Amino acid sequence: MPIIEARNLAKDYNLGKTVIHAVKGVDLRIEPEEFIALAGPSGSGKTTLLNLLGCIEVPSSGTLQMDGREVTRLSADQLADIRHDKLGFVFQTFNLIPVLTAFENVEYALLKRRLSPKERRDRVMDALEEVGLVEHARHRPEELSGGQRQRVAIARALVRQPEIILADEPTANLDHLTGGKVLEIMKRINEERKTVFIFSTHDPKIMEIAGRVVYLRDGEIVPAGD
Ligand SMILES: Nc1ncnc2c1ncn2[C@@H]1O[C@H](COP(=O)(O)OP(=O)(O)OP(=O)(O)O)[C@@H](O)[C@H]1O
Ligand SMILES: [Mg+2]
Repeated sequence: MPIIEARNLAKDYNLGKTVIHAVKGVDLRIEPEEFIALAGPSGSGKTTLLNLLGCIEVPSSGTLQMDGREVTRLSADQLADIRHDKLGFVFQTFNLIPVLTAFENVEYALLKRRLSPKERRDRVMDALEEVGLVEHARHRPEELSGGQRQRVAIARALVRQPEIILADEPTANLDHLTGGKVLEIMKRINEERKTVFIFSTHDPKIMEIAGRVVYLRDGEIVPAGD
């Protein structure tokens, strides 16, 4: 069974008199353990599609199933539960809380989980270890490099042990080498923990690491090389 199945998924934005068809009739099956890149020019719908798959945006039409369960008819609260329990998010601009340390940024993601202080600490340190940042646990974001900040953000996504991590251009603010290292960490987590990763990128080198590349153009999936 696919972990995500989108059928004829579409998202329109109404801007006064004009309607923007950001995603048009996308069919996409994502299998367990996949490591998928979304590629395509600026404005092709990558962010919109990630936001639909991440239950952040509500589709205008079409269906979206997660683990065989239709999510398009769920309430806002139910969608929030899915985001919290099943999904992790990584952003282009890291989105860490500046006044918190790396440890606290990751711990913050566990706020709603009922865990003992020891369990919580162990989970946070385990996630920081996964991204090679145990030594930087007490550093605040401004005391970390861009690559280290993004690794904190990956640890924060990982600490709830989600089935799927969605990452919108996670390497766009990093130099090529650093971006490649961040992707390698994501790939290792995918292989070891079987976490599904779906990430968007403009970088052809990053696409090479992906198990599958889905190309978008004008809101539609197109064949590679089109
Ligand atoms: N909130 C919004 N309101 C109106 N239009 C939007 C909104 N979000 C996206 N769009 C439009 O939808 C289309 C797809 O945008 P999207 O951000 O998904 O593209 P993208 O592939 O992520 O681009 P980029 O590579 O620049 O990040 C664009 O035409 C964009 O202007
Ligand atoms: Mg985008």
